[in-house]
Amino acid sequence: RIVYVNGAYVPEEEAKVSVFDRGFLMADAVYEVTSVLDGKLIDFEGHTARLRRSLSELEMPSPATDEELLAIHRELVARNGIHDGLVYLQVSRGAADRDFAYPDVPPTLVLFTQEKPQLVDSPLAARGMSVISIPDQRWKRRDIKTTQLLYPSMGKMMAKAAGADDAWMVEEGVVTEGTSNNAYIVTGNTLVTRQLGPEILSGITRTAVLRLAQEAQLRVEERPFTIEEAQSADEAFITSATTFVTPVVKIDGQGIGAGRPGPITQRLRELYIEEGR
Ligand code: PDD
Repeated sequence: RIVYVNGAYVPEEEAKVSVFDRGFLMADAVYEVTSVLDGKLIDFEGHTARLRRSLSELEMPSPATDEELLAIHRELVARNGIHDGLVYLQVSRGAADRDFAYPDVPPTLVLFTQEKPQLVDSPLAARGMSVISIPDQRWKRRDIKTTQLLYPSMGKMMAKAAGADDAWMVEEGVVTEGTSNNAYIVTGNTLVTRQLGPEILSGITRTAVLRLAQEAQLRVEERPFTIEEAQSADEAFITSATTFVTPVVKIDGQGIGAGRPGPITQRLRELYIEEGR
């Protein structure tokens, strides 16, 4: 695999980042994951806009212009022959002597690709996911896409240990989001998902899916919901760049609706994929 590190395209075995890099030592880094469908980048502008916002919230210098980032994404997709998959981008504050204060050094920019043959024909999307609820113990600036992913990883492991696919995180009695995705429920003709704010990441897929839902004449309510409301909904699903729209059919052991992927969820998934192609 060819990866990109600080200006160079190199085989992954030759890619090097300093042991003093603050991404490595302090999770002082932000990232983006852009999906690739039929060799085409999905929602690239949305991802770069969110990256800009993450960088500015953390006063991190920009490693490249949007045009340069687009060129690197395209070059990596081409060089690695990616058909369906993703491009991962990470910017860290760079390498410096360990100190809590921000150093004045150039940022580290790393990108790599991953082929995902089952991005569209996903077995999980066909069967529907089961989720468990866990407390949301992340920091309070989840609107910034940082690489502090240890609690979400713990959540994923808690889900696995419980025989489930993922976890929905709950704070003050309401669902924030999944470990690496936004959460939704559908009742009748109404789609409910939590409103934006520091408590959740503003998903790029979320923006697209809410627009598609409105175009499909669904009522969209952006407000918090509880696990109990979700358990009595007709349908539930998640969205992210790596899962698109994926149905949730069980929450804390209780089946949702008919216990299989619902028609509105399936329709939104189809619409999202059609538009991306
Ligand atoms: N995760 N919420 C969280 C906490 C996320 O980590 C993600 C994305 C999303 C969905 O955002 P988007 O639609 O822009 O992908 C919501 C990526 C895919 C990841 O960490 O792999």
